[in-house]
Amino acid sequence: AAAHAGAGPLAGRRVVVTAGGTREPLDPVRFLGNRSSGKQGLAVARAALDAGAEVTLLLAHLEVQPPAEEPRLTVRHAGTALQLRDAVLAALEEESPDALVMTAAVADFRPGEYRESKIKKDPDADDAPVIELVRNPDILRQAVERRASAGGPALIVGFAAETGSAEAGVAELGLAKLRSKGCDLLVVNQVGTDLVFGSDRTAATILSRRGDRTDADDVVGGKDDLARRLMELIASHPAMRRA
Ligand code: CTP
Ligand code: CA
Repeated sequence: AAAHAGAGPLAGRRVVVTAGGTREPLDPVRFLGNRSSGKQGLAVARAALDAGAEVTLLLAHLEVQPPAEEPRLTVRHAGTALQLRDAVLAALEEESPDALVMTAAVADFRPGEYRESKIKKDPDADDAPVIELVRNPDILRQAVERRASAGGPALIVGFAAETGSAEAGVAELGLAKLRSKGCDLLVVNQVGTDLVFGSDRTAATILSRRGDRTDADDVVGGKDDLARRLMELIASHPAMRRA
């Protein structure tokens, strides 16, 4: 490992990054998915590597090529929310990372029942199945809870995509989510029709909590710009100071 030791503000630190969108299977040929491309998560992993960190990348479904092997990078695959939860908890347990960055779009719900054989339609009727969904675990919340009882990463970072609504703006929703999730940083993406999903560009606010104070950094630019800014904030965060 020493031969590949990184240089930079996160040298000697370990960062676990989740990326992509989970797919929740209905039957052997169908799933419930989402529009996450995985680009932001890969950009975060890249920025962490460039800052000198050891990176564990936990990949759900990507719309882009996964990164090639390289020193200081470990890649594991976890397709469903339950698999990703297990992979995150295992990484926290075995690798004691300094930071966990949850860029993955984790399905909030999954089909309550998985059908071992393909769901067929009745050609003589026009009825349709009703698919019951059940809640998936909230991985970020579980990581925050585990840290409170068993210790864990100095920093836990969430990502949120918000459209805002007539009742609440994007910034307001982000602050509420940061508080309710209990994470240290929350990157709030403004989701417009062409902005963010699948795009290389993004418009986001990074909310960073230190005790009672919350700082907000606006980033408009590439997903790599956002990732680099996030790594600067992580590296300079007081919780990352070496004991
Ligand atoms: N997340 C998670 N597990 C879930 C859902 C979300 O770990 N089951 C994480 C995401 O990876 C992200 C953060 O929580 O870092 C915020 O996700 P988001 O979907 O915005 O939050 P939710 O609490 O699911 O709220 P909403 O009802 O707005 O979807
Ligand atoms: Ca959600």
